[in-house]
Amino acid sequence: MLSRRHFIAGATASLVAAPAILRAQSIWRDYPFSLGVAAGDPAADGFVIWTRLAPRPLDPHGGMAMAPMPVKWQVATEPRFDTVVREGEALARPELGHSVHVELEGLEPDRPYWYRFEAGGERSINGQARTLPRTGAAPEALRFGVAGCQNYEAGFYTAYRHLAEEELAFVYHYGDYIYEYRGDAIRPGWSGDLIVAARQGVGQDAFDLADYRQRYALYKSDPDLQRAHAAFAFFHTFDDHEVTNNWVQDIDPDGAPPELFRTRRAMALQAWYENLPVRRTMMPRFGATSAHRQVRYGDLAEIDLLDTRQYRSDQPCGDGFRPVCAEVTSADAQVLGAEQEAWLARNLSRSQARWNCLAQQVMMMSVDRRRTPDEAPEKLLNLDTWAAYEVPRQRLLARLRGLDNVVVLTGDEHQNWAGELHDDRDRRVAVEFVATSISSGGDGSDLRPGSDHILAANPQLKFLNDQRGYLTCDVGRDEWRTNFMVVDRVSTPGGALSKRATWAVARGETTLRQA
Ligand SMILES: [Fe+2]
Repeated sequence: MLSRRHFIAGATASLVAAPAILRAQSIWRDYPFSLGVAAGDPAADGFVIWTRLAPRPLDPHGGMAMAPMPVKWQVATEPRFDTVVREGEALARPELGHSVHVELEGLEPDRPYWYRFEAGGERSINGQARTLPRTGAAPEALRFGVAGCQNYEAGFYTAYRHLAEEELAFVYHYGDYIYEYRGDAIRPGWSGDLIVAARQGVGQDAFDLADYRQRYALYKSDPDLQRAHAAFAFFHTFDDHEVTNNWVQDIDPDGAPPELFRTRRAMALQAWYENLPVRRTMMPRFGATSAHRQVRYGDLAEIDLLDTRQYRSDQPCGDGFRPVCAEVTSADAQVLGAEQEAWLARNLSRSQARWNCLAQQVMMMSVDRRRTPDEAPEKLLNLDTWAAYEVPRQRLLARLRGLDNVVVLTGDEHQNWAGELHDDRDRRVAVEFVATSISSGGDGSDLRPGSDHILAANPQLKFLNDQRGYLTCDVGRDEWRTNFMVVDRVSTPGGALSKRATWAVARGETTLRQA
């Protein structure tokens, strides 16, 4: 459907002698841009454009010969490419899975651009991306999307198809771009019920670079995901499933020794880099990547993209959903690590922006997860969230207090949540919006069993919903609105989109209000 080959074949049928010439020009038996195109990390003067050559995406090396391959690229100010403002050639190298990352500079701020690639006589689809306003600009408004958690087998990417139709400056991706585990056709759900895969994945649990590369190839073959990437630049972060469930630092929850887990993590992060439109500074070095970074949208918003995995101390109390234990208040615990935490503190203390946004992965609110009054005698925590790291959590909340313009964006939960963040003296300091998943968890329903009890037991929580979808954030100079967009199903294609709720916060306040 996205193949240019069919278009070229059809378009040339009426031209005398042209088919033979075009056929000779193409060196490919299969379409090489099968994984689409993408743009990322927009700034005021440019962004990254990405593609990866993979004529047979699920085969070893994507069906590529183990040699560098030149890829031409073009950037234009309109979709017909009559006005090309930048062009060049990059090498798709086997060391990086034949991916190409081109960092554009010197473009005009706050306007759309179109880009495309060509290799061996075949052309990619067109992608589109916007540059950001200048740092000194005073934009009236910003509209961006929030998405993540896209388990391939769990459902169709219909939410991405709808997302691609939105008008957005960019998309923030909170991770779980892939899931590393084997995609079973049938498996037990969270309550022991039968889950039947909506579609068939490939491969076993991913351990080496070939496994992770193949997993990205499977996911990126999805046409709805390709549409979303072609429509907007993304800011990518990663969560746990880019490597393995609930990993932190060099600690493998399945118990592999740290020196072995580090090799697996290194390969997983290399595949993450290869397959996403991120900057060269994020190419892993010695198995680690520096992925926390700041985005400025004029004077309207500063967005701090956080990494809550690489520097975090081990989950306390044995991880999972458990009652609070003494380790939850360990003074040595870290979520961001000392260096990233100091970087964030500096950003927040210097910020002159109307809004400060922390775009991160795991829930910052401390929520009692008991679904019935009898489920446990005391508070149950999700120990893979900030709630299990009370000391660094309170340290951060203390820094947010008084700013009265902080919005926290989160993923991971596979449910929509909106709530208020309270410090240790029960003062409100910020609001948090948790985005659901594109597909992970399957169709869902408005509320899971027990969610009404969770809402009643946690007064800081204002909204909970268990459908798939994405967020759009409408950021004005005086009000931030978050729209919870949901699809009615993901188990079959064609799910319908609706706006389930809009929650708003006024600048200078920390109270959520349903809009
Ligand atoms: Fe997830």
